[in-house]
Amino acid sequence: MGEKFRISGGQALKGRVEISGAKNSALPCMAAALLTPETITLHNLPYVRDIITQRRLLEDLGATVLTPELRTHKINASNVELFEAPYELVKTMRASVLALGPLLARFGKAKVSLPGGCAIGTRPIDLHLAGFERLGAEVRLEAGNVVARAPRDGRLRGSEVHFSKVTVTGTENLMLAATLAKGRTTLYNAAWEPEVVDLADLLNKMGARVIGAGTSTIEIQGDEELGGAQHTIIPDRVETSTFIAAAALTRGELEIKDCMPGHVAAVIKKLREIGVEINELNPTSLQVSCPDGLKASDMITEPYPGFPTDMQAQYMVLMTQAKGHSVINETIFENRFMHASELQRMGARIQIDGRTARVNGPTSLTGAPVLASDLRASASLVLAGLVAQGQTLIDRVYHIDRGYERIEAKLQELGADIERIRESVTGPLPQSFPDIVTA
Ligand code: EPZ
Repeated sequence: MGEKFRISGGQALKGRVEISGAKNSALPCMAAALLTPETITLHNLPYVRDIITQRRLLEDLGATVLTPELRTHKINASNVELFEAPYELVKTMRASVLALGPLLARFGKAKVSLPGGCAIGTRPIDLHLAGFERLGAEVRLEAGNVVARAPRDGRLRGSEVHFSKVTVTGTENLMLAATLAKGRTTLYNAAWEPEVVDLADLLNKMGARVIGAGTSTIEIQGDEELGGAQHTIIPDRVETSTFIAAAALTRGELEIKDCMPGHVAAVIKKLREIGVEINELNPTSLQVSCPDGLKASDMITEPYPGFPTDMQAQYMVLMTQAKGHSVINETIFENRFMHASELQRMGARIQIDGRTARVNGPTSLTGAPVLASDLRASASLVLAGLVAQGQTLIDRVYHIDRGYERIEAKLQELGADIERIRESVTGPLPQSFPDIVTA
């Protein structure tokens, strides 16, 4: 049965919130476990739907995954028997294409369903595939699947890969593949994201030799095999930024704990510019308030270290509450303004023209029934609901469950009036994901 959030806006958020592990780091790190027959132990995994999906993929392939604690997975891929990620999984989570690099590198073959378009754009994986070809793989398309094979001796060859566009999972997929290739691989125009660096850290703990992650050139010296490792996933920078926005919007005062301020530097810079007070209490905590209200400012999304596309929807809500006119340019995805029409239904003044949004603020938003279209769009609707007058009902909250851990529980603890409801029943649900808690 579909679940919704019911939010009554108007409460200033106050208190402390702990940030969970980064979904977009956890997903490639889980895929890295396919590179070795030894056990990979990952700590601080976020308790979100995409992690359950990635776990299912690993188990379908033949890996065993133990969960001694809620946020720890022990993954052992010594008995992988299947080398394919089916359409059923890939269509629910595009990051399952991250199985391609490790399977191809370790077993010399992989078949992964080609992801189609999604709510935020066409999102091809041509750059991943061209990269694998540079490493000597033969890549074919067969009935909607990508079928890739290593050269005859079963091993990829180190090579130079120049990405024509910065791609996060493309960089990760090639990095994963190159760790078991013969010789050295150099990735040019690689993504700099902290999630890429986190994956490189894990790979190096497994015995790989990856240098330069966090810059645009990454070098990987391939090895014949990799070993087991333990690794703690970095804090989620999008969740951190979303809570900064929540504090600012509701004129509250939040302490945001267990985060990495350095990873959200572009967001902090921009939000200070629009009037948000953000202080670094210590290397892992931020204090946020917004005593004097918000001022409009233009924003453009860029690859890291620029302002992230994953915060664009939330920034748009900030701009609906800011004094003045602002222009938001989305340069990463071609169709990432689905939240705008829902925000308009709540009274926001937004005009969309291609990849540009123009927002006129401030407007007082009013609660309305709205539809979540993707993960970050849903987060923006939650934020809008927190400042709207009256009641907001957000449908399709499964989108938000993909990437935000217990967002309604975290917000409730900060004083928000939000609850999860079933379609036609008014009572709260007992537990979101009982199936993840297994020994
Ligand atoms: C990652 O997606 C994130 N997902 C996204 O987070 C994030 O929005 C995005 O990076 C940008 O930061 C994960 O890490 C699992 P890209 P990814 O490849 O890697 C084009 C969220 O909400 N492109 O960096 O798929 C592509 O179409 C999600 O948590 C090609 O043309 O994004 C886009 O325009 C959503 N060919 C641009 O590059 C390719 O082969 C950047 O995409 C690959 C990408």
